[in-house]
Amino acid sequence: MKITGNTILITGGTSGIGRGLAQALHERDNRVIIAGRRQNLLDDITTNHPGMAGLQLDLGSPTSLSHLADEVEAHYPELNVLVANAGISRSEDLTSDEWDASIAQAIIETNILGVLRVTAALLPILKKRPDATIIVTTSNLAIIPLSAYPTYCASKAFLHSWLQSLRHQLRDIPVEVLELSPPYVQTELTGEQQASDPRAIPLPVYISEVIHLLETHDHPRGEILVAHDRQRRFAEQEGRYDAAFAAINPT
Ligand SMILES: NC(=O)c1ccc[n+]([C@@H]2O[C@H](COP(=O)([O-])OP(=O)(O)OC[C@H]3O[C@@H](n4cnc5c(N)ncnc54)[C@H](OP(=O)(O)O)[C@@H]3O)[C@@H](O)[C@H]2O)c1
Repeated sequence: MKITGNTILITGGTSGIGRGLAQALHERDNRVIIAGRRQNLLDDITTNHPGMAGLQLDLGSPTSLSHLADEVEAHYPELNVLVANAGISRSEDLTSDEWDASIAQAIIETNILGVLRVTAALLPILKKRPDATIIVTTSNLAIIPLSAYPTYCASKAFLHSWLQSLRHQLRDIPVEVLELSPPYVQTELTGEQQASDPRAIPLPVYISEVIHLLETHDHPRGEILVAHDRQRRFAEQEGRYDAAFAAINPT
């Protein structure tokens, strides 16, 4: 992906990693459109970053998604990059009699179907553009699950697999397919406490490392992995899987 001169739609652009990427890419002379449900945040961010645009989008709503392609064709026909980054994370106690799969359903709707639907809506536009790129945010928990978040981790494992097939199918079109696989980063993904958790990487540090990897095209196999990620990503290949699983899932 070139790092400047793109028109980029970022889902989950109202906070955390999506918002950080939006700001960094806006500063590098890209036309950035942030998407999310919270209109007040879309307004605040775009007011503070003249030239950035906001698009209200609920990935759980088929109506909201059905207008997306038309809206993009009408207002941003030059769109060449999709960052499908929006996601939710919730813990689930599978041993509880109260567990009823409703949280799992919400996660699957947003993290899996949300990504597939937004890709389906915009791929016909992207296929026609030069320098087209799709970036999807997974997680390093796709590789080694944190058992308190079973469906969340499985949703990211689904995307990790699905992206390999998408990349292969699009190899001759060509649309570049990149997987952004963050480690634990200071955002409010699991609640306010995460944004100041000292075990998580500060958001600006993570964003600047990601931008550097994009600038230098340092993403072998299409995986954008910051240094912090690599331990877990290659644990199985290096014979460290059981130890790595036990480290985050103590008995
Ligand atoms: N932070 C981490 O430690 C970490 C690690 C690995 C992976 N990730 C992944 O990184 C991505 C971004 O998460 P984050 O950490 O930046 O958390 P975040 O600040 O909570 O961001 C999540 C974003 O997703 C959007 N979103 C959620 N549900 C949506 C829906 N139904 N429709 C449209 N937008 C929706 C939210 O916007 P609205 O509320 O405005 O709709 C928000 O902008 C997620 O995919 C997450 O799984 C994060």
